[in-house]
Amino acid sequence: MTARLEARAVRKAYRSGRGTVTVALDELSLSVADGEFVSIVGPSGCGKTTFLNCVAGLESYDGGSLVLDGRPIAGPGVERAVVFQDPSLLPWRSTFDNVGYGMALQRRVPAAARERRVRELIEFVGLTGFERHYPGELSGGMRQRVNLARALATEPELLLMDEPFGALDAQTREQLQVELARIWQAGRVTVLFVTHDIEEAIFLSDRVVTMTGRPGTVRSVLDVDLPRPRDPTVKRSAGFVALEEHIWGLLHSPAPARVP
Ligand SMILES: Nc1ncnc2c1ncn2[C@@H]1O[C@H](COP(=O)(O)OP(=O)(O)O)[C@@H](O)[C@H]1O
Ligand SMILES: [Mg+2]
Repeated sequence: MTARLEARAVRKAYRSGRGTVTVALDELSLSVADGEFVSIVGPSGCGKTTFLNCVAGLESYDGGSLVLDGRPIAGPGVERAVVFQDPSLLPWRSTFDNVGYGMALQRRVPAAARERRVRELIEFVGLTGFERHYPGELSGGMRQRVNLARALATEPELLLMDEPFGALDAQTREQLQVELARIWQAGRVTVLFVTHDIEEAIFLSDRVVTMTGRPGTVRSVLDVDLPRPRDPTVKRSAGFVALEEHIWGLLHSPAPARVP
């Protein structure tokens, strides 16, 4: 497989107005292959969001390189879609119009085909019957489904997700994990997924990347050798629990000193 995303020694520092410098990312290297589902887990404040925003092109970085399909990332692009914890929906637009909004802006797809695709996507995320509802009339889980459909509508090559289910209750969260796994399996979009939930990371991923505390860098990359499609019952299997404990241990022990 050819690497779709290649991060090499990415460094990012924030400078405040008073001159303080916070190094958020240091020497972060990671590659994500075409069609792969990769999760990043790490302690709060370790730079997960910063890294995802750099890949999205929403933040600049100060050192190293970030290359997507052979091209350096220099800003946002239509081949990348981002899903944040809080759905970025337009409150005055219906489910149908929120899902179709990005496509309409791109003007690549004729109106009739767009309408068909929006209907398919709404069905895909389990929201048929709610096309005319406004975000305020939907539950948190449903809003995040709309958000996911909206992100998929523009057919991104890389889907970037930052704790997308973090604000949902445990049951809704599990439902959406199952849906996301199914959607990924069906469409094989490449996904880079950030979470602080180890269980969620293992359940969804081909590989789980753990990060060290700030300045964030990659501590370890673990393969998830669990068959797909996965059912939530897999979370109780011996292989799953062993991996979960291993990752938990990594996140709760000091990282080995870095070679200068
Ligand atoms: N806009 C910003 N300005 C200054 N510092 C920031 C900014 N965004 C994040 N940081 C700092 O960078 C570090 C990493 O933050 P973040 O990427 O949000 O971590 P995570 O998503 O892993 O919780 C934190 O120490 C945070 O305080
Ligand atoms: Mg974050």
